[in-house]
Amino acid sequence: MIDVNIYRYNPETDKFPYMQTYKIKQPKTDIMVLELLNILKEEDSSISYRRSCREGVCGSCSMNIDGINTLACIKPMKDVKGEIIIYPLPHMKVIKDLVPDLSIAYKQLESIKPWLQKENSNLKPQKEESKQSSQQRSQLDGLWECVLCFCCTTSC
Ligand code: FES
Repeated sequence: MIDVNIYRYNPETDKFPYMQTYKIKQPKTDIMVLELLNILKEEDSSISYRRSCREGVCGSCSMNIDGINTLACIKPMKDVKGEIIIYPLPHMKVIKDLVPDLSIAYKQLESIKPWLQKENSNLKPQKEESKQSSQQRSQLDGLWECVLCFCCTTSC
């Protein structure tokens, strides 16, 4: 058995947040923490968290697992020994349980304009697409892979 400790907070009914412990059999096959949450949600449908792609590309399931901000869908349960502690991403207002309010993070992101911009921004939008060479495209490698999970943003 493993203890799964989950941060719970419903601002509509709870005066303060609290930790709720669920006991669950260690799964026989290796599953990800997100699947563990899905199993728990079948028992207790009130647990709230975000999820979507289930394969680390949408950034929805970011949370703090055993003290590290990470994506629950790519965090294997085989790394968990006896107990797991799950909090929402730190330094954010909590909407409910493991669901942080990302509105400020999105505003901050928008303020740095993290998209490609033409050198002469006075140009009117073109009607045709702006083609780029393979060499120009390769300059973007390593710069666009962020899935906007905000794990790094909320780490410091
Ligand atoms: Fe999409 Fe985890 S569900 S990154």
